[in-house]
Amino acid sequence: MKTILITGGAGFIGSHLVRLMVNKYPEYHIVNLDKLTYAGNLTNLKDIEKMPNYTFVKADICDFERMKAIFEQYNVEGIIHLAAESHVDRSIKDPFAFAQTNVMGTLSLLQAAKIVWGDNFEGKLFYHVSTDEVYGALKNDGSFFVETTRYNPHSPYSASKASSDHFVRAFHDTYALPVKISNCSNNYGPYQFPEKLIPLFINNIRHNKPLPVYGTGENVRDWLFVEDHVRAIDLIFHKGKVGETYNIGGFNEWRNIDLIKVMVKITDRLLGRAEGTSEKLITFVPDRAGHDLRYAIDSTKLHEELGWEPSLQFEEGIEKTIKWYIANQDWLDQVTSGDYMRYYEEMYHV
Ligand code: NAD
Ligand code: DAU
Repeated sequence: MKTILITGGAGFIGSHLVRLMVNKYPEYHIVNLDKLTYAGNLTNLKDIEKMPNYTFVKADICDFERMKAIFEQYNVEGIIHLAAESHVDRSIKDPFAFAQTNVMGTLSLLQAAKIVWGDNFEGKLFYHVSTDEVYGALKNDGSFFVETTRYNPHSPYSASKASSDHFVRAFHDTYALPVKISNCSNNYGPYQFPEKLIPLFINNIRHNKPLPVYGTGENVRDWLFVEDHVRAIDLIFHKGKVGETYNIGGFNEWRNIDLIKVMVKITDRLLGRAEGTSEKLITFVPDRAGHDLRYAIDSTKLHEELGWEPSLQFEEGIEKTIKWYIANQDWLDQVTSGDYMRYYEEMYHV
């Protein structure tokens, strides 16, 4: 059985990827390596945790000796690296944690792979999952980020992700480590930690709490349903060219304020409230420091080379997502109360 190591598999995108890989590839042993920070939630994976081709390992990617030991113990042949500190607002408050995990953690994994794989990289692959934020911000002029857009990160989060991308490319150019990188736009869908815009606002609407819109709400994001992102990762992992970068995005730009109004409308309807009831919760608050104006991804390369395209229209995806959070209020309550953090001890008897 070929072992694929997925880091950050207890997080939002990672849990969707682990589920897809475990179900789709019984011939792979999927090892999910996660430190279980506040963002790691093993209840996201309840449905697959007993599958014979799945193993969970609690570990910190910054622990280099442990990473080497894990590569050796499981005979890891491929890695899909998602583990990261991922929230921009947290990076503004505590940049050190972002440099530590996103930069030093990625370097620790690269070095472990290089040492354990030795001189023979045949059949090996290091796939690094990154973000469109490394490219900086666009004006409202119809332009897009392409794979060759110059890196110009603004937040400590995006600076740390940019740095990790550079290390991945450096290991390819210096040591011939087989690598692939993808840079994706904003994801939405089930199991996203409710500090990010969409789940935070759904939860606040449900509890009649204020909806804090940063600045004027004019900022634009390009939203992609998380299952479409992990389908793209699967495709790139198996069919993408070694040494290449692929942009992933849905050609789906929304001004924050317009998106919020759509969410309010759908959530009110699904909660049985009169249309527009929750619009009064919209509250303009001081802007995020260094707030990037606009992100927009051109994913033509991924479409033309590998035939990928998003499967869901946004209207369908956002309604499906809001329905999921309303139907899974227990999940939201467990996350907001902190109860989910006890699941690992209960499940693994430690
Ligand atoms: P997330 O915050 O939901 O999950 C991150 C996971 O990494 C958590 O399970 C956490 O416990 C784990 N982790 C953190 N530090 C760790 C460490 N030191 N060692 C081991 N595990 C650790 O993040 P997400 O939104 O699922 O993002 C996953 C990846 O995708 C990140 O690399 C992020 O930069 C990238 N990305 C995210 C988006 C998005 O919209 N969310 C878009 C593009 C790219
Ligand atoms: O573009 C990809 C990136 O998308 C990922 O790399 C990051 O990991 C992910 O967190 C996300 O970053 P954003 O900063 O764009 O996502 P967030 O959900 O935090 O914010 C989306 C937009 O909404 C952004 O313009 C800020 C705004 N916002 C956010 C929050 C949490 C608000 O107006 N109010 C809020 O309370």
